Amino acid sequence: MKTASPFLELDSVERVELSFNGELLHLPDGSNLAAALLASGVDAFRKTPVSGAPRAPFCMMGACFDCLVEIDGVVQQACMLEVRAGLEIMSPDTTGAFDEPA
Ligand code: FES
Repeated sequence: MKTASPFLELDSVERVELSFNGELLHLPDGSNLAAALLASGVDAFRKTPVSGAPRAPFCMMGACFDCLVEIDGVVQQACMLEVRAGLEIMSPDTTGAFDEPA
């Protein structure tokens, strides 16, 4: 059930199983993915390609890209997605993102 705030939905709906970096989680079906991951204790969604510093959602409205995750090989903003059963979510691999072309 949608409410005025995505955070109010976290305790009011059925939970479904998914994984984040191989760890099984049970999150509220249909809730905002970034909010649900944060509420479950995930505190770093990705690392920066230059320094390796951890990043987690900041704006929650699709502007900052600090919530990037990889699902089925596609890097996406978690704050723009909903929780669905069976998602296999990974931190995006940014290794070599700034390497010189060969
Ligand atoms: S939290 Fe900023 S784009 Fe998702």
